[in-house]
Amino acid sequence: MRGKATVIAPANIAFIKYWGTQDWDRTLPFNPSLSMTLRECFTRTSVEILDRAGSDEVFFKAHGRSMEPASEAFSQRVLPHLARLRKWAGEEVSFRVATENSFPMGAGMASSASGFAALTLAVVAALGRQVTGEEASVLARLSGSGSAARSVLGGYVKWPAGEGPEEEHAVQVASAGHWDLRDVVAVLQEQAKEVSSREGHERAPTSPYFEPRQRLLHDRLERVRKAILARDFSALAPTVEEEAIDLHLIAMSSSPPIFYWRPGTLEVLAAVRRLRQEGVEVCATMDAGANVHMICTPDSEAAVAEVVGRIPDVSSLIHDGVGQGPMTVDEHLL
Ligand code: PMV
Repeated sequence: MRGKATVIAPANIAFIKYWGTQDWDRTLPFNPSLSMTLRECFTRTSVEILDRAGSDEVFFKAHGRSMEPASEAFSQRVLPHLARLRKWAGEEVSFRVATENSFPMGAGMASSASGFAALTLAVVAALGRQVTGEEASVLARLSGSGSAARSVLGGYVKWPAGEGPEEEHAVQVASAGHWDLRDVVAVLQEQAKEVSSREGHERAPTSPYFEPRQRLLHDRLERVRKAILARDFSALAPTVEEEAIDLHLIAMSSSPPIFYWRPGTLEVLAAVRRLRQEGVEVCATMDAGANVHMICTPDSEAAVAEVVGRIPDVSSLIHDGVGQGPMTVDEHLL
């Protein structure tokens, strides 16, 4: 039915990171990436079609607050994507959009992947259109948040980096049911990061280590993919950590350099290494921020939370895990 739709879309955590954009018009990355779609950290977005040409309306519900007109900065990110989707649909309509996140803004969790995946899918559904997962992935990617291309699918998801129809959209590597991995997030930084990931993508090629990284990545991604398919945690863990350090090596050696880590980041990394030496199945990864995602098996989750939760710089822990991907729901925000 056309008119109104609400979609819940989850965030994701990259095991192999998208870092560096070669074409901003189409949001095409330099390198392939691979992530785990989450389930507890998500964006819920309602879209209502207004059958008139005119201006779009954007509302945002912050944690513990009521629905309010979105800030200028928030609207400036949403409105261009609505214009793009309107052009794609070829319809003279306006949109009323309301959105909220399941996780507190300021918890330092990237919300652009879940946000743009939810917005894209809710607009498509409100227009009464049907799209395949591949088409949804391309539409979400064009928002400028490349990682949104992966959040439209559940489980373990790869986004290739080449040109051509098979390369431009994300694909599922394995379903959520294939391997129950958890993500315990150690929150160290409550405020938004100082340098946006867009800025990071732009600076990445200035690092002298950017080219060597490109040569290493394809083999590293294959190792991660095979470890997931084989449910082999001991093969997954060192590769995921190697990749996380690599992303930050590029950021720190970009011009000008970007330092996302905080002292607590190193403490958590050391605790994770100690836990692994003691036989706990856990490894750590960070996106463009200070917070540490601790990927672990269900049996290890309690030990990880117990040890890392005691580190003074860790302000809170978020418990998440692999999820099924977006869904349409009836609980509208409008
Ligand atoms: O999709 P963007 O532009 O927010 O960039 C995502 C960058 C990382 O989170 C660091 C890596 C990734 O692949 O998700």
